[in-house]
Parts: sequence; structure tokens; C-alpha cells
Amino acid sequence: MAPPEHSSIVPGQLDLAALEEQARGLLPPPVADYYAGGAEGETTLAEAPASWRSWRLRPRVLRGVSAVRLGTSLLGSEVRTPIGVAPWAYQAMAHPEGERGSARGAAAAGALMTVSTSATTPLAEVAATEPAAPKWFQLYRQHSPAHTDDLARRAGQTGYRALVLTVDLPVFGRRLRDAIHAFALPADLPPGNRPDAGGPGEDTPMWTFDDIGRFGALSGLPVVVKGVLRGDDATHCVRAGAAAVWVSTHGGRQADPVVAGAHALPEVVAAVGDEVEVYVDGGIRSGSDALTALALGATAVFVGRPAIWGLACGGADGVTRVLDGLGAQLAHTMTLCGLPDVRSVPRDTVTPAR
Ligand code: FNR
Repeated sequence: MAPPEHSSIVPGQLDLAALEEQARGLLPPPVADYYAGGAEGETTLAEAPASWRSWRLRPRVLRGVSAVRLGTSLLGSEVRTPIGVAPWAYQAMAHPEGERGSARGAAAAGALMTVSTSATTPLAEVAATEPAAPKWFQLYRQHSPAHTDDLARRAGQTGYRALVLTVDLPVFGRRLRDAIHAFALPADLPPGNRPDAGGPGEDTPMWTFDDIGRFGALSGLPVVVKGVLRGDDATHCVRAGAAAVWVSTHGGRQADPVVAGAHALPEVVAAVGDEVEVYVDGGIRSGSDALTALALGATAVFVGRPAIWGLACGGADGVTRVLDGLGAQLAHTMTLCGLPDVRSVPRDTVTPAR
């Protein structure tokens, strides 16, 4: 799919609202709504971007900052930006390049990519796309526990640098938009990692904190727990062996209404931020949103839907332009705030909006 002639992904001038609209125009309505939608009354979905803007920056002046360092290290992997790609499902529905496009796009931006269990490309093939660029594999509980274990093992064998356990999906969220469209995956969608219809069944054992250590041992990878919204849960995860905790509402697609990432993050950082890296996603739509998250103690932030819009409108290139655009905004805002380095953004850079 060629980028539209008047692409809104203009370098240095990222207009995500226009890009979202453009993506909606390119995708069949049930697919556009599958990507856009949230659970229940979509309160969490609606509040996420606004929650970042409930904080205000407190710029420092006269600090002589002319160059900003965006590069950081995530569980020991060097990246050129602290803005990564969150796992999102069925990418071939958005663009024929699918997960390979996202992998190339993220690599060109120097960003970390997290690859979903529900990818439309087998995990080994995504790993082999830009193999030097760091990638994490996101694990969902599968209908067959043996299949789940097999995915974890293969993630370890194929070059992924961490295993991300998504724990906020014991069952699927109830998504009204999908019900209205009677949304079903296209019959010709590549199966990716699915041996069957996939997804946990009623008789599939639920995960507990013990599974963190078990999957770590199976995969040989550090385990990131994604979908944590409470300090006490974060502490349990770290005691159970988690190498990092990822604060997330699953883009407002699971329990609803729940506390926004921007409000859960300080509690989780207070609980475990001295011991492990903490990441956050949900409604990050600008460099200043990302800076707010870094000030609140996140080591990195991730974007879901902006990456979807980028891939849908421009394939790999579109993903790169979204990530580069957000990175440029972050660097610019940091310069304005007198901050030279994403690895040391002081907590007092933000204050609640009044
Ligand atoms: C997701 N998300 C998700 N998370 C996950 O762990 N595995 C997955 O397969 C998916 N799939 C998925 C599909 C779609 C269409 C969306 C929108 C989201 C959640 C995702 O990783 C992330 O938490 C949110 O998307 C972040 O919020 P924003 O940036 O979309 O607001």
C-alpha cells in the first residue's frame, strides 16, 4: 500500500489526529473499530490521553542544554529512543507488510518492538527481520498450556531479548464496537503463531505469580509483566522474579473504567522503581506525554495505536515516521525544559495541573 499523496506523516510535523483519520479512511470500518475500540463504556480509553495532560511541566532555565540524549538501555538492550512499539495483534489487517513492516520501521527509528502472540507472522520470522534490532516477545495464555510453553521456549531460542507476560487478559474485555460489527478475523488472515483458533479456553488454568518464574526458566529470558496497575501487585511480581513491570490498561480494552496509566505509574514506581525498570503505555500521543511519564519514573513508554496508524498509512516507513516524530517532539520539549538526558529526568519536572 503506497502512502497517500498528501501524507500527514510529514517529518518534524507529526499530526497524529490527521494520521488517525487517514488510517480510518483506509481500513474497512470493522477493522478500524477493532483497532480503535475499548471495553465497556470506553471510559478508560477516553481518559488515557487526557490523563497525561493532567500533569504540567516545570521547565528549568539557563541550564545550557543544546543537545539532548534520547538513547537509553532497556533490560540491557541499547535503543536510540525511549519510545517503543507496544504489542498489537493481527498487523496484516492494517497493512500487507504486517509485523515485518513494524519490525523494519521500529529498527529504522532505533526503537524497541514488542511482538504479539497474536501476530500474523510467525515469531521466528519477525525475529529474523532486522535481527540486530532488539525485540521482545509478548505471551498470551493459549488454549493449550503446552502451546503456551512452546511459544515461550521458542521466543528464547529465536533471539528475543525478553518475554512480556500480558496479565490483564484472564478473559477478553467486552468490546461493544466488535459486537456491533460482529467482528471476525478475515478467513485469509495468515495464522502467525496460531495452531488453532487460539485464546484461553474455560478449562485452561489461570496464571498466577508462580508463572513469572516458570516462564522465565522455560524461555531463559527476563520476564516483563504487562498490565500492572497497583503497587502491591508490582511488588508481588518483583518478588516472583519479574525483571520489569509494565503499567498498562491494555489501551482501555480490558477492565473499564480503570485507573489511567498516568495515575497508576507513581504508585508502581514508589513500590518497585528502585529495584526494576518500569514502563508505561496508554494514550501517549506526544513528546510531552512521554516526558511526563519519564518524570514520573518510567524508563520507557510504548505506543499502540499511533504505531497502528503509521503502519496502516505508510507501512514500515509510516511506523518510522511516527516514532521519529514523537522522538523529535520529546527532544524538543526536553531542550525547552533544560533536560539533557532521558535517563535522568527528575521527578520534580512535573506537577499536577491546577
Ligand atoms: C492491543 N494491545 C495488546 N497488548 C498485548 O499485550 N497483546 C496484544 O496482542 C495486544 N493487541 C492489541 C491490539 C490492538 C488493536 C490494540 C489497540 C491494543 C494493547 C497494547 O499493547 C497497548 O497496551 C495499548 O495499545 C497502549 O495504548 P495506546 O497507545 O493504544 O493508547
